[in-house]
Amino acid sequence: MIVAQGMEAGGHRGTFDPAAAERTDVGLFALLPHLVDRLDVPVVAAGGIADGRGVAAALALGASAVQVGTALLRSPEAAIDAGWSAALAGLAPERTVPTRAYSGRLGRAAATDYVAAWAAPDAPPAAHYPVQRALVGRWRRGDATVDRVNHWAGQSAALATTDPAGEIVTRMWAEARALLA
Ligand SMILES: Cc1cc2nc3c(=O)[nH]c(=O)nc-3n(C[C@H](O)[C@H](O)[C@H](O)COP(=O)(O)O)c2cc1C
Repeated sequence: MIVAQGMEAGGHRGTFDPAAAERTDVGLFALLPHLVDRLDVPVVAAGGIADGRGVAAALALGASAVQVGTALLRSPEAAIDAGWSAALAGLAPERTVPTRAYSGRLGRAAATDYVAAWAAPDAPPAAHYPVQRALVGRWRRGDATVDRVNHWAGQSAALATTDPAGEIVTRMWAEARALLA
């Protein structure tokens, strides 16, 4: 199988050329049919899928399965800290941004003050992976609710609920099946 990761996805970006990550961002709705039309192996859709509508849309576009990350982050099983979970609540898509501030590799995160500071015109460029992670690591210890701790978030973060992970997945599939019936 091949995972088609759209640029909507939260967390680190999977990329063949880390240096070109910003220039090779593609939305899932364009990426998925492009791959499905050219491949003979199952394609798994990832990026911005956080409810049954997203699952149904991805399957309609030819995906064999979906991969979900951000939609599960606020579940008890994910056990992220309270500050990160609160940052995801109601988060608008444009309030998530690609950043190298945490590790040196590109990833999508909530646009916290920390992330915004690294994007300022006079900010130094982030160091290469994994040097950046070590450089800023000392700020991540201690109070885990400060915004310098990574707040990974996909563009559909506002759809993430605090329900148990099993309920979220079961509901997503039930919604998708009803839409596809
Ligand atoms: C907290 C978190 C960490 C992630 N870390 C990685 C990673 O290290 N490498 C990677 O290729 N994808 C990573 N991802 C992306 C997921 O593999 C997946 O593509 C993504 O979560 C799907 O998009 P969504 O978050 O909108 O559901 C991460 C996602 C999250 C939410």
